[in-house]
Amino acid sequence: MRVPTLEDLPDPAGKRVLLRVDFNVPMTNGAIDDDRRIRAALPTITWLTDRGATVDACSHLGRPQGRPDPAFAMDAVRQRLADLAPGVNLLENLRFDPGETANDPAFVERLVEGRDLYVNDAFGACHRAHASVVGPPRRLPSAAGRLLGREVEVLEGLLSGPAKPFVGVLGGAKVSDKLAVINALLERVDTLVIGGGMAFTFLAARGHEVGASLLEPDRVEECRRLLGSGRRILVPADVVALGPDDAEVRTLAGDIPTGWKGLDIGPASAEAFAAEVAAAGTVLWNGPMGVFEDPRFAAGTRRLAQAVASTTAFTVVGGGDSAAAMAKFGLDGEVNHLSTGGGASLELIEKGDLPGLAALRESVHA
Ligand code: 3PG
Ligand code: MG
Repeated sequence: MRVPTLEDLPDPAGKRVLLRVDFNVPMTNGAIDDDRRIRAALPTITWLTDRGATVDACSHLGRPQGRPDPAFAMDAVRQRLADLAPGVNLLENLRFDPGETANDPAFVERLVEGRDLYVNDAFGACHRAHASVVGPPRRLPSAAGRLLGREVEVLEGLLSGPAKPFVGVLGGAKVSDKLAVINALLERVDTLVIGGGMAFTFLAARGHEVGASLLEPDRVEECRRLLGSGRRILVPADVVALGPDDAEVRTLAGDIPTGWKGLDIGPASAEAFAAEVAAAGTVLWNGPMGVFEDPRFAAGTRRLAQAVASTTAFTVVGGGDSAAAMAKFGLDGEVNHLSTGGGASLELIEKGDLPGLAALRESVHA
């Protein structure tokens, strides 16, 4: 479903553009860990400024509770933006105002006041029906920026005609967060590979003991239903686990003893998952296979990242953690599409649309 693009806007020369970006970058002690989301907005910014527009960019950062909070101030982001795109303004964190997440019309009015055009390049926030995402298209001529346009093109391609076999790889901590998308993905993929913390609820559903591993007992039944659905779902046959003393690390297959906590997929599982990726036509990866920040539990995610980097399949990696893993292993340049949105990319695949996209399509001025 087509959204208006920059070319659909009236001539931006001399105009003031409200540009919604997703500069919700990972930070440690006030310093930016990864500026990918800022760099990803540059093509749109350049397109606008080259044509004589003044750009007022706006973003959320973290989850402040609707009031100014110095821990979530935009200073470091503003500084980085000034280095990369001098002359572009950046408003204060949108979520310092309770009107942003509440989608308050009065906050929308404040955002559009004095501005002539609206561009949304905040793919990572398009699944949020927040004021800055869905409000301005009702008030100003509006379009999707380049980053948003490319994300939608690639992800809609996965929905319409992916090269087969289509292999989905899901990881991350919680199965409950991803049950809806697992159901949707099973309609589309030929094989679904499950790793990360969420794998243990599937292993429990297979009748295994999972020791002290992450388990969501109230989801076991749903995982059992999925495993019995006749779809091809792969779960780890071995795991790397930490002992009750928090020191000993072992590879375990089958039941995990009491007190042991699985924190990565094991080497046999990593090879099996890598083989699926190698033989795929399309790969969608979201969520790490283990706690890869800890070198003892990084091997599974590293093996998967290598497989994604070297397969001939068309590869899409979404989610901040998987993107960070690709970057950590120096493989982020080896992916066909590194999505800037985790939740947004999964929700687009699950629902086929996002509030931010619908708002652009329904823009009165579109
Ligand atoms: C993200 O980083 O996932 C997006 O910026 C959305 O942030 P949110 O989950 O706090 O809405
Ligand atoms: Mg998120």
